Amino acid sequence: MIKPTAGAFLFGILAIGYFAVVQPAPAVAQSVDELAAVCAGCHGENGVPMDKTIPNIWGQNRSYLLNQLVAFKLGHRTNEQMAPVVESLSKTDMEALATHFSKLSWPDLQQPPVPDDVKAKARAILDPLNCRGCHQEHYQGDTVRPRLAGQQDDYLVKTMTDFHTGDRKTYLGMVALMKSIDEADIKALGAYLAAVKLPGH
Ligand code: HEC
Ligand code: HEC
Repeated sequence: MIKPTAGAFLFGILAIGYFAVVQPAPAVAQSVDELAAVCAGCHGENGVPMDKTIPNIWGQNRSYLLNQLVAFKLGHRTNEQMAPVVESLSKTDMEALATHFSKLSWPDLQQPPVPDDVKAKARAILDPLNCRGCHQEHYQGDTVRPRLAGQQDDYLVKTMTDFHTGDRKTYLGMVALMKSIDEADIKALGAYLAAVKLPGH
């Protein structure tokens, strides 16, 4: 019994060697500008997304952007528009894209002004839950915590609702926080955060 096993083992080694040799060479790496041109189709040529439910990614924190691309790639975050986009991206591509977009300046998305009663309602929910403890004083975010200030209102509402329902579970801390909030109140939070401006802007 020893010989066939050794033979099969040897064949295995040879087969691995053979397939390694005939593997096609990887496609020529695309430049970051070529890769980013695909993103512009939805996230916008000038940083203004094509639709209110598509997030702005210009000027977002680099580590957060990279985490999301990896999460889409691994299927930890599901979205039918982003899934095919990340399929062909390598780790190096995702790192280059995260660096590229984090360096662009955050666009003015012309969010509608928020009535005082909506502001008061939002603050009464956000402040006791200390959202700024992680998202920082002006909701500008930090490393893996995204900037929320001036993000698209409809997108914010959508993604907070996704945390609330558990459809987005990239971070269980956010799932727990959003579950503690009434779904009907999420709209006011989105409107408020979308209208927050950083000092000097
Ligand atoms: C076909 C449209 C489309 C294209 C092309 C596209 N995106 Fe997206 N992207 C979306 C949508 C829609 C979402 C929001 C997903 C959700 O609601 O969870 C999103 C979300 C994201 C997020 C998460 C942002 C956040 O605030 O959480 C990142 C990062 C991102 N896209 C980067 C990219 C990059 C980089 C490219 C190009 C390589 C790209 N996208 C191409 C539609 C697109
Ligand atoms: C313990 C730290 C922490 C606290 C407190 C916190 N967040 Fe977050 N938040 C995060 C992290 C980390 C992420 C990124 C999750 C991921 O990687 O997908 C996030 C993501 C988000 C996003 C997604 C933004 C985007 O671009 O997709 C929203 C919206 C958000 N938080 C709102 C809130 C609100 C509202 C509160 C208060 C009720 C809050 N957060 C409190 C850490 C926190």
